[in-house]
Amino acid sequence: MTHRVTTAVFPVAGMGTRFLPATKSIPKEILTLVDRPLIQYAIDEARAAGITEFIFVTSRGKSALEDYFDCAPELESVLKQKNKTELLELLEATNMESGAIAYVRQHQALGLGHAVWCARHLIGDKPFAVILPDDVITGEEPCLKQMVEAYAEIGGNMVAAMEVPADKASAYGILDVPSSVSRCLPVRGMVEKPAPGSAPSNLAIIGRYILTPQILRNLDGQQRGAGGEIQLTDAIALEIANSGNVFGYRFQGERFDCGSKAGYLQATVAFALSRPDLRDELEAYLHQILATRQAAQ
Ligand code: G1P
Repeated sequence: MTHRVTTAVFPVAGMGTRFLPATKSIPKEILTLVDRPLIQYAIDEARAAGITEFIFVTSRGKSALEDYFDCAPELESVLKQKNKTELLELLEATNMESGAIAYVRQHQALGLGHAVWCARHLIGDKPFAVILPDDVITGEEPCLKQMVEAYAEIGGNMVAAMEVPADKASAYGILDVPSSVSRCLPVRGMVEKPAPGSAPSNLAIIGRYILTPQILRNLDGQQRGAGGEIQLTDAIALEIANSGNVFGYRFQGERFDCGSKAGYLQATVAFALSRPDLRDELEAYLHQILATRQAAQ
């Protein structure tokens, strides 16, 4: 039996307070890594995994996101007139098919589980992916594609997983899994933001999920969890007891936490260094400032 996934939910309702004042008037998902907004990376990853229906869970002040995925006819005609073919192609690659993106608002910031639940009527009764655009993942094969391929074989519920340092575990959802080197692991338990020292492992949930519609029904209860929020992790954890069908997927690739300033800056440098048009100049600059700093010490 194959389990196809064609719908993805993008929770983009967060206020982005860690990036104030920049996020006072622009959504954090519009912040750029080099020259592409964070949300573009998430959309491209979803497309590469075969997603054709995109659901954005937004909130007040996020209309720049809707505009970003709309056509820009004035800009296109100016570029055409000036024969700027390359720029035109860049712009066209961001266009979405009409009707491919749906927007739904989360009226209150009640947590990630609640945000996903807000999309329930648009998702319907089929498995769906969730992508957290803050988690930017690079690699030979896009993370969600790896997961969709594994999911086609096993179904159930799947979360992306990665080892994190023990002292960082309380910032994540953490999995309780049997010790094994395999990529796909049956999950015995999961806990959102465990208290320091109480995490069952150092295998953290990273922002890619493939979930069954049962998770949306589990969220109907609106149960509050860590931080007083309605947690997606808790709704998935219920399925461990109910069906046993929850898997952690250790993806191949590097993950950047673009929800934090340090992670965002690291991603900016890494992405710029991977660009042939920027690499040499940036590399020379980095060498130079590091040498100057070392000499001063
Ligand atoms: C969310 C999830 C958490 C996961 C993390 C990954 O937390 O609730 O389980 O480990 O994303 O980035 P947040 O970072 O929104 O606090």
